[in-house]
Amino acid sequence: MNIILIGPPGAGKGTQAKRMIDRLGVPQISTGDMFRAAVKEGTPMGKKAKEYMDKGALVPDDVVIGVVRERFQKPDAKKGFVLDGFPRTLEQAKALDGLLSDMGTKLDHVVVIEVPDDFLVERLTGRRTCKGCGYMHHVKFDAPKKDGVCDKCGGDLYLRDDDKEATIRDRLTTYHGQTSPLIEYYGKANVVRKVDGTMSMEDVQKAIAKAIGA
Ligand code: AP5
Ligand code: MG
Repeated sequence: MNIILIGPPGAGKGTQAKRMIDRLGVPQISTGDMFRAAVKEGTPMGKKAKEYMDKGALVPDDVVIGVVRERFQKPDAKKGFVLDGFPRTLEQAKALDGLLSDMGTKLDHVVVIEVPDDFLVERLTGRRTCKGCGYMHHVKFDAPKKDGVCDKCGGDLYLRDDDKEATIRDRLTTYHGQTSPLIEYYGKANVVRKVDGTMSMEDVQKAIAKAIGA
């Protein structure tokens, strides 16, 4: 099963991907998570990516495509994937078409999680991500039992550097300008499944399962 999740910042791509992968038996491939790991390790690629991430802009296509090409070489990706946050530009989408055709496979579903901008600032300013396992809590919608401590692994929770209100606005502008046109691109291939992302996390998961038939 080869799936792409598209949605604005805070739509719930990561939340839903984490809930789908066990059931589907495929890995979540999140370019955002990969860049944050590189930033944490202080690699040259991480330093370059951070300049763009802190501005709410996109990391250059050649860098992102290189990272995904490398990730696809790992054995677990042969079973399929849930792509979270990639592709984000037409150039990335075309590069993905090429990578899939080289692998002799194709896309099954492009799930679009639709959430109006008004919801997203609250979702992102309230998000608390775990430094240990990467789980995303929310101070209101998925509050940890103990402040600042992850329910899943006991790790410390933190506010992402790009979850400041001004940066969130820039990320939304970037999404509407560069990423949402992909919905039309994939519309031609008849793989787009739109889901209402304003429902509860469980109901969004059920809607996705129904839309992809799994
Ligand atoms: P990335 O990490 O992909 O960030 P994003 O797209 O901005 O999306 P988020 O991770 O912020 O949101 P999400 O949709 O995963 O929401 P979540 O599930 O956490 O990218 C970061 C940066 O890296 C980019 O800005 C760019 O610079 C760079 N980058 C990455 N990929 C790139 C690419 N392909 N090309 C170029 N640059 C790239 O949920 C949010 C919060 O809401 C959580 O607290 C959650 O608990 C809560 N929540 C989720 N669902 C619900 C619900 N149904 N109801 C109530 N609350 C909910
Ligand atoms: Mg995410």
